[in-house]
Amino acid sequence: MTPRLKAVPLRRSGVKEKILHIDRLSKGFHTANGYVSVLDNVRFQAEGGELIAILGRSGCGKSTLLKIVGGFIPPGSGKVLLNGSPVRSPGPDRCVIFQEDALFPWLTVQENIAFGLRGQKQDKRSKAHQVERFLGLVGLSEFRDYLPRALSGGMKQRVALARVLILQPQVLLMDEPFASLDAQSREEMQNLLLSLWQELGHTILFVTHDVSEAVILADRILLMDKSPGRIREEIGLNLLRPRERESGALLDFSRRLHQALRD
Ligand SMILES: Nc1ncnc2c1ncn2[C@@H]1O[C@H](COP(=O)(O)OP(=O)(O)OP(=O)(O)O)[C@@H](O)[C@H]1O
Ligand SMILES: [Mg+2]
Repeated sequence: MTPRLKAVPLRRSGVKEKILHIDRLSKGFHTANGYVSVLDNVRFQAEGGELIAILGRSGCGKSTLLKIVGGFIPPGSGKVLLNGSPVRSPGPDRCVIFQEDALFPWLTVQENIAFGLRGQKQDKRSKAHQVERFLGLVGLSEFRDYLPRALSGGMKQRVALARVLILQPQVLLMDEPFASLDAQSREEMQNLLLSLWQELGHTILFVTHDVSEAVILADRILLMDKSPGRIREEIGLNLLRPRERESGALLDFSRRLHQALRD
């Protein structure tokens, strides 16, 4: 056993409002081999604007947890409250980005980003202005007329990000969104996500099994155990931003988290 990772205070001073309450969530599935408990008594809260990484080994229930918070599947027991109201179904206040997000292949980059605004009551000019802003924010203005098949994996994930951020969700749920990218594109996407987060101020739950990704991104890491999935520890990363990937403090956190995941 490694020594427990020491939790440190969060980087922000002052008390921020807790907007998301995950309260005693449990979930299991009936399978061919009988009932399997996947999540057991998972509880945590998120402040407005906080970036939380959910870190754990494959199969520990990270995606299941995110699907419950997204309202895609119901919990077995316990509840999710957003701004005090129970989450029972997907809603525009929570957007999800997956590992390989399917863009509409017949729509251009610009049209994909604009798609979510179709039902909204805004005039054409204001919609066009928004699309322009988000094309710029993800660095794809020059590629606006490209179809998805002409984009790299990283560019596709930028479109996926812009497409949900334009809806201005309060909470962004990200399930290993950069896992299929090469190392360099992955770093670029992490940096882009951090700059978008700092500009737009969403609350983000970011699922990953990559330690270095968790420590570069998160205000706080929830380290999960497996079988059944539980939160083993909450680790606050009171580190200045922008963070140096090779800094001693980050490498130290990474080393201890790697060890904790092996235990
Ligand atoms: N619909 C389902 N029916 C039966 N079992 C399920 C179902 N969904 C998930 N599971 C099981 O729950 C466990 C957790 O799955 P989940 O996808 O949440 O893990 P994860 O932490 O996201 O893993 P990974 O890192 O590989 O994505 C797994 O053992 C999986 O087989
Ligand atoms: Mg998963």
